[in-house]
Amino acid sequence: MGRRVKVTIDGKVFSAEEGESLLAVALRNGIDIPHLCYEECLEPYGSCRLCIVEVVEGFKKGITTSCTLGCVDGLKVLTNTPEIEKHRKVLFELYLAQAPNSEKLKKLAEKFGVYSTRFKEKNLKNDPLNGKCVMCGLCVRVCNDVLGVGAINFIGRGYRATVNVPYFEESDVCKGCKACVEVCPVDAIDYSDVGDKRVMISWSNTKVDLIKCSVCGRYFSPLPVFGSVSKKLSEYGVVCDVCPDCRKRLIAKNMTSSGGYNSYA
Ligand code: FES
Repeated sequence: MGRRVKVTIDGKVFSAEEGESLLAVALRNGIDIPHLCYEECLEPYGSCRLCIVEVVEGFKKGITTSCTLGCVDGLKVLTNTPEIEKHRKVLFELYLAQAPNSEKLKKLAEKFGVYSTRFKEKNLKNDPLNGKCVMCGLCVRVCNDVLGVGAINFIGRGYRATVNVPYFEESDVCKGCKACVEVCPVDAIDYSDVGDKRVMISWSNTKVDLIKCSVCGRYFSPLPVFGSVSKKLSEYGVVCDVCPDCRKRLIAKNMTSSGGYNSYA
């Protein structure tokens, strides 16, 4: 645990750990700063620029991204000056043109008073992500840096740049874990569980086998993920070929009958 410091956001004083992201402190305390490329499990890298704030004291004065702004004692920032609103509006407009089909992005923009874009919308012909991707890169980073799988990456340049599997061919390394889906801030990545297969629709329909719950028979977890987890847990005597719902029922049943440890926990 690092040294505690005091930072001021819009006139309110908050306690923070020295060096932690100012955006994290703001979000933790209910201050709504829009952001697309920030995710707690990854190092902030300041790509979307939406999280801008104005530093008025304690650091170099001016507008900067709050996700990459480390907290220092006496730091004071404002989140809603006319200057920030002006820059934010342009950024939202650019993203709305880049991802005109993302309802989640539209809602976020509307929350901050932006309802349309002056920029030309992206040509959606042959867009594998159907005009929903803002190129924040979170899916690529979580797949590569956190999970070490590397199933997807940036493809192409400039206006045609996108994210996908190499050569737009079905991936043989994707584990179907859905981390990319969960981390996407604009719901751009589609998948579907069909019978005993998970189909990662956005990743060229990459198919991954699902494991069947040994209790209810429902397919629930991708085999490549299940395999490594179950191997580890079985070393501790934990049964894990049951779906989350059945697991809860079994735990409850086991606890009421034995009143103690159970192998389903
Ligand atoms: S969230 Fe800070 S730049 Fe994207």
